[in-house]
Amino acid sequence: MSKVIVTGGAGYLGSHTVVELASAGYEPVLVDDLRNSEARVLDGLATLLGRRPRLHEVDCADRAALDRVFEREGAVAGVVHFAADKAVGESVADPLKYYANNIGSLVAMAQVMQAHGVRHLVFSSSCTVYGQPARLPVDETAPDNNAMSPYGFTKVAGERMLRDMVVGDPAWRVVLLRYFNPIGAHQSALIGELPLGVPNNLVPFATQVAAGLRERLTVHGDDYGTPDGSCIRDYIHVVDLARAHVRALQWLGPAPAGTCETFNLGTGRGSSVLEVVRGLEAITGRPLPHIIGPRRPGDVPEVYADAGKAARVLGWKAERTLQEALADAWRWQQALAARGRD
Ligand code: NAD
Ligand code: WQD
Repeated sequence: MSKVIVTGGAGYLGSHTVVELASAGYEPVLVDDLRNSEARVLDGLATLLGRRPRLHEVDCADRAALDRVFEREGAVAGVVHFAADKAVGESVADPLKYYANNIGSLVAMAQVMQAHGVRHLVFSSSCTVYGQPARLPVDETAPDNNAMSPYGFTKVAGERMLRDMVVGDPAWRVVLLRYFNPIGAHQSALIGELPLGVPNNLVPFATQVAAGLRERLTVHGDDYGTPDGSCIRDYIHVVDLARAHVRALQWLGPAPAGTCETFNLGTGRGSSVLEVVRGLEAITGRPLPHIIGPRRPGDVPEVYADAGKAARVLGWKAERTLQEALADAWRWQQALAARGRD
């Protein structure tokens, strides 16, 4: 069984990827210091996997600690590197925290991998690198240095660093995955997103409103040049996204040395904020209290993916609809409430 190290494996996207890796026959090993997650995600993973996955509680920017992880684990086929801080607003207030962690942990991981002869890497990037694309849907050839926040620039810089690394040492094989807007949860409602504090993102905030934990949602602007005036995003079910990581690793195996490829991970379909509101209303059977507020600084009006390259090259396509993703997000919110956590 090929062992794969999943940094940030206790987090939202990492935990779902751990499940898909295990069901594809890999042995996922988690490296996560739980700075933005909880150890009890392992309980959900244990139920889904039929065994408790191993977790190394280690800061990925700590090279010596990472080195010990690789020594203990022995043969490792590859690494999926999710570990990063991701709050856009916080990155504006504290950019050094973001560069230190998002770049620092990537540099440390790459160095330790190199030292241990592990050269297959899948990196979490983001559609945020495109800013507001001139043409939609946006494909991977569009300008990718247009992030709107320090967080976004850590992804621009991380991608750049990895491309340079592969040029300098063509023994590497790297995939850069640009996620659009991941939402939803595993259908079992055993794992999902655990936003700490007030959620920044639309769907976790809206499901908390639907559950009565928050009074109402503020729609950030309805005066954009979009059909209903609210912003448009490409919302992708987290399980579809997780499966793309499995495909990426499988594809990297026989790929030529020196491969460094970038893929958009989206559905190709844009949905507005108000469509998400209506979608949730249809699922819960109740009106979702919301008001229209001002635009949120830094928001781009409209972005959705051309995910054709991932389909052609990886043979991967998002299969789940927005309604399925919202239904799973709602089921997860209810499971959290039942566990006594908002
Ligand atoms: P998350 O916060 O749920 O998961 C990240 C995990 O990494 C957490 O469990 C955290 O404890 C861990 N972590 C962070 N820094 C660490 C470090 N130095 N050492 C060890 N563990 C560390 O976030 P997520 O939504 O699962 O995002 C995963 C990745 O995907 C991130 O790189 C993020 O930037 C990227 N991404 C996320 C989204 C999104 O909307 N969720 C979109 C695009 C890209
Ligand atoms: C979606 C839409 C909001 C909350 C962020 C990062 C991006 C990527 C994904 C990591 C927007 C609107 C939201 C609310 C609202 N992450 N909204 N009321 O901003 O597209 O992307 O997460 O890489 O880099 O920027 O996602 O969920 O915050 O917002 O009206 O209370 O919902 O204005 O149009 P976003 P989001």
